[in-house]
Amino acid sequence: MPNISSLPLSIVDYALVTVAVALAYKLRAQQVADAPRVYPPGPKSWPIIGNLLDFSRGDLSTTFFEWRKCYGRLTYASTFGIHFLVVNDYATAVSLLEHQGVLYSDRPQLRILDITGWSSVMTVTNLGARFREMRLRMKGTIGNKSVLAQFQSGNMAYTRRFLRQLLLEPNTLSRHVSRLMNSIIMNLSYGHDVREVGRDPLAQTAEVASHDFEHLLIPSSHLLNFMPWLEILLKWLPGTGYTQWLRDVKARRETFLRVPLKMFREAQVCLAAGTAKPSFFLRNLSRSDVSPAEEETIAWTAIEMNNGPTDTLISIIQNFFLGATQASPFPQRAQAEISSAVGENRLPALQDRERLPFVTAVVKEVWRWDLTMPINVPHVAAEEGTYDGYFIPKGTWIIAHLRAFTHDPDIYPDPDSFEPSRFIRTPSHEPEKDPSHIVFGFGRRKCPGILLAEDVVWLVCAMTLASVIISKARDSKGSDIEPTIQRSGLNIL
Ligand code: HEM
Repeated sequence: MPNISSLPLSIVDYALVTVAVALAYKLRAQQVADAPRVYPPGPKSWPIIGNLLDFSRGDLSTTFFEWRKCYGRLTYASTFGIHFLVVNDYATAVSLLEHQGVLYSDRPQLRILDITGWSSVMTVTNLGARFREMRLRMKGTIGNKSVLAQFQSGNMAYTRRFLRQLLLEPNTLSRHVSRLMNSIIMNLSYGHDVREVGRDPLAQTAEVASHDFEHLLIPSSHLLNFMPWLEILLKWLPGTGYTQWLRDVKARRETFLRVPLKMFREAQVCLAAGTAKPSFFLRNLSRSDVSPAEEETIAWTAIEMNNGPTDTLISIIQNFFLGATQASPFPQRAQAEISSAVGENRLPALQDRERLPFVTAVVKEVWRWDLTMPINVPHVAAEEGTYDGYFIPKGTWIIAHLRAFTHDPDIYPDPDSFEPSRFIRTPSHEPEKDPSHIVFGFGRRKCPGILLAEDVVWLVCAMTLASVIISKARDSKGSDIEPTIQRSGLNIL
């Protein structure tokens, strides 16, 4: 019997296929054009400012939970002409951001990022060739299990140092966690060994630049994003504090981009061939024929590995310590598991993960319970579309409220309790959804650092559980002091 794929197609067949495809496109375009322009329900909007006041009142995640109660899984809001779709339901997020990912995977474009030279960061780059190159480069290091394995002994050494410091000075937990995560990430991206945080010039540069970027990402902090004509005014007023601040931000960003490159080149000259430490830089820059354009992309990708990720890793480890002080006596159970599976003579390593299911369940619960990113980075609609009969204009910001998913009682019963056992299979209980499907985002923009983040967080939690007893601090009368939680203000507008 002839193979169907080998039969030659006639010109008529080609013409028919072409016409069918064109008709399908036209039909879809027609459906979109014909759809009534109905937006999902949402709060009352004011002239010009729209829902600005709703976005700026208190904690945004709390507002979004209220919207879920009032409007269900999708809420529409707008301000200064920007459309927002807040997604309060996991299945809807998957449907929009994964199944229709081609349409909903761009990022907001903010004028202030162009002005300060920050718009080359991957997080704000739209889909396209540059975006693909950056993601591929990043994946080559942090998305590859065997490459990541090269960093395990270094990560374990940094964690041992962290535990020693913690035992010596338990009151300065945050500082130790910060040094630990800075060390892990800087070593991985640049092969740089961080000295004490606050005294390490590169870590300091990274911290300042990272705060600049976070600030620039809040659109309403800069009227320029909504009133582009202000830029012309600024050119006429070059001596204002604001223009000076813009210049400073630009200079700090430039330093963070160039200094590691310079350090790497100097190290290359000094080091005998083959003795350099593995790193993202070494993997990507050690070829002799790297073009200046490639070098630029590599430097920006490395910035991306430091900017943001270090802070999210710091807060997840802080959450782990917070969770360990909650009612559930999980540290004792985890310690007993480690003692029986690994013994007392060494600390657990990633290879022990299979044998430590309860420790793994603790780590999953840390990811789920108190999210470091309750609201996803906004995705933007590249074209207009419809969902469930609702109209989604081109340029709409689609905001997945991740905390609504990890605290949905239909997915996680009793969602506010810290309960690692929810992830353990028993004859009467199926493990609940792995939170990694939620906390790292969706589709084409899904966090490219998942493997790294999961490995590092597991390793640090397991080694800590094996070595220290975690409890609430006590006052002079021996009573427990309740931990106070301070969250940095979360804002998308
Ligand atoms: C606590 C750990 C982390 C969490 C919770 C986290 C979470 C996220 C989330 C929710 C997004 C947005 C996904 C979306 O738009 O749908 C994201 C994006 C991103 N993450 Fe992570 N991440 C973590 C660690 C890391 C690490 C360790 C790296 C790299 C070293 C990294 C690099 C990135 C990058 C580059 C993006 C932007 C991706 C894009 O726009 O295409 N993250 N992350």
